[in-house]
Amino acid sequence: MGQDNRPPEDGRNLLDRLLPRVMAAAKALAYRTPVLQTPLLPRYPYWVDPGTLAEMVRLIDEPRTTEGAIVEVGVARGITSVFMLEHLRTTGDPRPLVMIDTFSGFTAKDVRHETAHRDRRRRDLANFSYGSAAVLRHSLLRLGYRNFRIIANDCATVDWQDIGPIAALLCDVDLYQPTLATLEAVWPLLLPHGGIVIDDCIEPHWADGSLEAYTQFIEARALPFVRIGGKAAGIRRDSSSDDRARSTGLAQTTVA
Ligand SMILES: C[S@@+](CC[C@H](N)C(=O)[O-])C[C@H]1O[C@@H](n2cnc3c(N)ncnc32)[C@H](O)[C@@H]1O
Repeated sequence: MGQDNRPPEDGRNLLDRLLPRVMAAAKALAYRTPVLQTPLLPRYPYWVDPGTLAEMVRLIDEPRTTEGAIVEVGVARGITSVFMLEHLRTTGDPRPLVMIDTFSGFTAKDVRHETAHRDRRRRDLANFSYGSAAVLRHSLLRLGYRNFRIIANDCATVDWQDIGPIAALLCDVDLYQPTLATLEAVWPLLLPHGGIVIDDCIEPHWADGSLEAYTQFIEARALPFVRIGGKAAGIRRDSSSDDRARSTGLAQTTVA
């Protein structure tokens, strides 16, 4: 009979063997238990459609616009921002994501416009007043992202020239005035083959001010209505849109 030269199993080895099994059993139990299972269940974490996320990836990766800025207007907790930052990270794209939000929700003047001219009640509108640029910055740094810039401001008064030429922009500010102000400011800065995706271009919907602003903007420039995903819409800057804009005299829409 051969001799067993293995050292006697001490408490530490036993714990190392048992712990993974105990953890797996606990996880299996939690996965089958209402309430405990909630964080383990699959869910869609984004407020924007897969079509919008796909279009942003396409615009970011567009080889002819790699010099331009990538911007999100209307950031809230940064859920979609993390999607874009992760895309930049995993593709080795060094450009920063510029994130613009008041971080205190809708401005008083934008809400006044919705209630006075668009038949909306204050309580119909979502409340984003809980926002915080400091919390967002901290959580993005914690996730290891460094290539971002946060601008805590009303998008209607942002210094857009300072951001420079734009390749890809997601506009998700819900209401008529900030959406139109963003489109007006960004259009001259949009690179050839760059694009804008505007979320919530559907009605009836509490955020259909986006649709009104988008429709007004594209009609003034003879641009086509482009549906993106189920509820967003898009604007591309290509040579034909420049030609169309020239032939229509590029009528200016104005924010009331
Ligand atoms: C629907 S949330 C954005 C959601 C985010 N894009 C996402 O997918 O996770 C709308 C955001 O727009 C911001 N917002 C509304 N009006 C604004 C304005 N005039 N200027 C800047 N941000 C504004 C709000 O503070 C809010 O955080």
